[in-house]
Amino acid sequence: MVPPEEHARTVSHDHAMSIGPTPESGDAWSTLWRAGVLHSCSTAIDGNYDGEMAAFWKARFDGLGTGQRVVDIGTGNGALALLAKHHAAQRGLDLDIHGVDAADIDPPRWASGADSFAGITFHPRTGMDTLPFDDGSVALVTSQYAFEYSRPRDATLHEVFRVIGSTGSAAFLIHSSDSLISSTADQQREACDLVFDRTRILDLAHDWVSSLVKGTTQPPRAGSEATSIHRAFQQASTQVVAGAAALPEAAILRKTFHYLHTTLEHAQTSPAHALEYLARARADLEAERVRLQHLSAAIMALTEIEQLRTQSIAAGYGSSVLAPLDQSPGSRMGWTLVVSR
Ligand SMILES: C[S@@+](CC[C@H](N)C(=O)[O-])C[C@H]1O[C@@H](n2cnc3c(N)ncnc32)[C@H](O)[C@@H]1O
Repeated sequence: MVPPEEHARTVSHDHAMSIGPTPESGDAWSTLWRAGVLHSCSTAIDGNYDGEMAAFWKARFDGLGTGQRVVDIGTGNGALALLAKHHAAQRGLDLDIHGVDAADIDPPRWASGADSFAGITFHPRTGMDTLPFDDGSVALVTSQYAFEYSRPRDATLHEVFRVIGSTGSAAFLIHSSDSLISSTADQQREACDLVFDRTRILDLAHDWVSSLVKGTTQPPRAGSEATSIHRAFQQASTQVVAGAAALPEAAILRKTFHYLHTTLEHAQTSPAHALEYLARARADLEAERVRLQHLSAAIMALTEIEQLRTQSIAAGYGSSVLAPLDQSPGSRMGWTLVVSR
């Protein structure tokens, strides 16, 4: 399995590609969740999380009894909340499941299968450092690639301690600097620099298509402005193609190619339509770049992760355990921390 978190060849991205980029507003995460992806690794894992990741979470849910409260922080489109619900149903019990996110989430509306979320309470626009739950009222807090995005992390950790109190526990799957996601993120970031800063290929595509809007039906004359814009676009394309060969994990480049190809196709029949399409494509790629920047800032060094365990023990959670999570041998997905007394 190839696990890059921000890999563009997702089920939903493929879907988005077939209909063209959708116009979106709001912050970069709300934009992603509104596009309908179930979780932030949707590239690699079709449907909900599976394999070792699912096994890790199921082992946590096994410790819960009927009616107990589970709170998934940074839940996105509720993949983990859904896993908790399905697992409880298999065990023949009901849990009180909540999903919290700072983004403007609404999984029953945006993710497919609205009915599957029945019974789960979602809290959009809610920070994980201000959880709407009483002290000690939560049996299990879960965080899958979410806690590490919060700032300051200490405040969030103490908020988690507050809601789990002396009887609950918390489980985190954390982006780590030794994970595949981390190495993929490096390539993705470099690809963004190539597209947006070094070649500015989207600007050049815009200029070229604009010149078609302004121009006549005659082919451009040699030496005309349209010809030089076209040449600059071709040079940038060559650079981006070379970049794609050097950055095989940079899925954002494949997405960029797809958008440019479709823009040029539209330009043959309606340059004005092509410009509208290109503007939406740019917004989509820019939102992805922002999420990649957040991801890079979220990835934790192993010393930082170890520090979380030390803090948990100091707060009285003496049985807290840290372990790497490999989806398959050599495919590190991050580190898990289970906080409990
Ligand atoms: C990488 S996504 C993970 C989503 C989900 N847990 C999953 O596995 O698919 C990180 C999520 O954390 C949310 N987030 C980031 N900082 C947050 C904060 N301080 N409070 C609540 N949610 C936050 C983002 O909006 C985003 O939805």
